[in-house]
Amino acid sequence: MLVKSMFDELSELNARPALFSTVTTPELWTDPHISERMLAAHLDPDLDLSSYRAEFIERAVTFITGYFELGPGKRLADFGCGPGLYANRLAATGCAVTGLDFSSRSVEYARAAAAKSGVDARYLHQDYLSYRDTERYDVIIMIMRDYSAMVPDARRRLLRVVRQHLAPGGAFLFDVDAVPAFDAVEEKAVYSPSLMDGFWSARPYFGFLNTFRYETERVSLDKYEIVEETQTKKYFNWIQFFTPEQLTAELGEAGLALVEITGDVAGASYHPAAPQFAAVSEVSR
Ligand SMILES: C[S@@+](CC[C@H](N)C(=O)[O-])C[C@H]1O[C@@H](n2cnc3c(N)ncnc32)[C@H](O)[C@@H]1O
Repeated sequence: MLVKSMFDELSELNARPALFSTVTTPELWTDPHISERMLAAHLDPDLDLSSYRAEFIERAVTFITGYFELGPGKRLADFGCGPGLYANRLAATGCAVTGLDFSSRSVEYARAAAAKSGVDARYLHQDYLSYRDTERYDVIIMIMRDYSAMVPDARRRLLRVVRQHLAPGGAFLFDVDAVPAFDAVEEKAVYSPSLMDGFWSARPYFGFLNTFRYETERVSLDKYEIVEETQTKKYFNWIQFFTPEQLTAELGEAGLALVEITGDVAGASYHPAAPQFAAVSEVSR
């Protein structure tokens, strides 16, 4: 039997993957152990990790409610709603809210939270990339820069779904990572037993994190290899860093027009040097 040397194994582990070669988004969000850790991060009011921190969410809900004049008669969908931190608050305005997420743990939490606070919101355990509904929405939101974490083909699919489900005059609000944040990305290789304090598995493991930069495309990759006794799992976290021009072009190809840029989904002013921005877009053709 040919046994690979440790040198070969480590060479392979540290090799730069081809751009967008592997997508692991569903595994990242639906693995039972990881989704439990993700939910804890969502619900930590002081963390800007899976969700923004609580104080920001309150401001964003106030902004979104006012900007889109939400209330009875309006319909809103929250794509990748997580545990419903926005959806349940927005539903409290009387607006008809549908939250979509493919993490069953998050959807269950969101439903329970809605029931507990007496809020009427519809939650679908659903991959938004394959969403087909007769419902049309005045507003679709996607928050926490999820758009940046999608590979180009998924972004195209998403925009088709968004376009199909917007009511006439409807708008899509989302946020993205901006090019100035790419400047701060450093290539690195990190190794640790139980990397990130057991985040990746309930079983003992050794974790390897490699961060790569893809200069021309302004993309970063955090690749996690989680080596357990009987299996190795890999998670690829791609981030596309946008300029407003690039986003405008991408939306344009999907028949959407960027109608306003803000600094974030809570209505801050756009700043070209900031690490993120948000966009409001509408159907253009
Ligand atoms: C970074 S979290 C943000 C959650 C929520 N928007 C918030 O800010 O609290 C991304 C969420 O999108 C969900 N998600 C990612 N890709 C999805 C897909 N294709 N279909 C449905 N949900 C998806 C994940 O399960 C996760 O709950």
